[in-house]
Amino acid sequence: MSTRRDFLNQLGAGVAASAVAGPAIALPSSGRAPEEESYWRHVANEFVIDPGIAYLNTGTRGPSPRSVIRAQVDAIYGGDRDRLSYANFVDNGDFRRGLRERLAGFVGVKPTEIAITNNTTEGMVFGTSGLDLRRGDEVVCTNHDHSSGGQPINLRQARDGIRTVMVDINRTDRSPRHSADDILEAFDRAIGPKTRLVSFCHVNYTDGLVMPVKEICELARSRGALTLVDGAHPPGMMDLDIAALGCDMYAGAGHKWMLAAMLTGFFVVREDVQDRVWPTVYSGHIDGKNMLGGDLDDPDHSLARFESRGSRSSPAGASIDAALDFHEAIGPAAIEARDRYLAARLIDGLSGVPGVHLSTASNEFSCALVAFSLDGVETKEMNDLLWDRHRIYVCNVTKPEMDFDVNRASLHIMATADHVDRLVGAVAEIARERGV
Ligand SMILES: Cc1ncc(COP(=O)(O)O)c(C=O)c1O
Repeated sequence: MSTRRDFLNQLGAGVAASAVAGPAIALPSSGRAPEEESYWRHVANEFVIDPGIAYLNTGTRGPSPRSVIRAQVDAIYGGDRDRLSYANFVDNGDFRRGLRERLAGFVGVKPTEIAITNNTTEGMVFGTSGLDLRRGDEVVCTNHDHSSGGQPINLRQARDGIRTVMVDINRTDRSPRHSADDILEAFDRAIGPKTRLVSFCHVNYTDGLVMPVKEICELARSRGALTLVDGAHPPGMMDLDIAALGCDMYAGAGHKWMLAAMLTGFFVVREDVQDRVWPTVYSGHIDGKNMLGGDLDDPDHSLARFESRGSRSSPAGASIDAALDFHEAIGPAAIEARDRYLAARLIDGLSGVPGVHLSTASNEFSCALVAFSLDGVETKEMNDLLWDRHRIYVCNVTKPEMDFDVNRASLHIMATADHVDRLVGAVAEIARERGV
């Protein structure tokens, strides 16, 4: 009998040679210490990024390594060449179950607590829209949340008359935060008797702050409120243990630090509260019944019901599987240590440049997003200068409503120490030219 592996091997023989062909993952098995530049150059070489480019924007989109691109090409080819065999041997219920199991293990939850989604936004919408909320109920969020978390709440405000309570965690003096106490105090003031949900980022996309998730979740639970965490950034950046954070819901991205395809993500709901979260986009069974009222032999009580929403992308699923292979080959803890090393190197380098303000703390409250600005240079202009002159790709996060405006570098494993030093040198050059 043919197996998944046989089928994939046949595909490998059939797919035309391309820029992504080659062994699945070709990494030396030793040398994973964060500062072992020769090992990490091997890792960086697994990406197809043009060698002239210093890609420091994984926070927006993480380009995939060759093996992940290859898995997607195989999935497209396999599905179109022989749809039935592909569906029988590869893209079937067992594969999806196995994928959920692997992903659950990777992020630290039970397989029955995770559903595969298209992106973080979907999870944030599922979490906010899925709750029974009444007029007058309150949902707490922060002014550093992404619109993916904030606007679904405001939609419920507009539609259902709930009240949005926004916690201000901005520091207008642009200095990084060194303690979680002031954040907790702000949440403490915001969470009241009418609070039903507390929604916030694990890692702020603005200043890279790692929020005190566990403490906020404990506080919310002690007041009877559910928690929904926007995890667009930590999966693939941090060695994640979502269960240990104690949150009720968590929405993650696959297409950023996890390095899977676009349109990949996941949504977690803790077992104990699953009966409080309705699916939002849904065509599956309801109370064990199909559309015509027939009984299902074996209704699936897991969070997989959040995947009952029409056709899905086989290449996206295959890319998650391959991305997990890639992360496991290197090791999530080694990747986090490397990302932190690169971020610390950047913070250290930029600290020595006159006129640079760092909005990111260099302690346990940061990880691999580094936000900075240079006196007298618009962040948009800084982006353009870095790209046009140095082929360095960072982004800017600009929120004029709260006087927040930074350039943001993402330090992930496609970047090397040379790229970091190139960024520091480029910012120093611009500072010199402007007479800062
Ligand atoms: C904190 C945060 N949440 C949500 C999103 C949206 O992510 P997605 O494209 O996976 O929906 C982003 C995107 O940059 C983000 O930074």
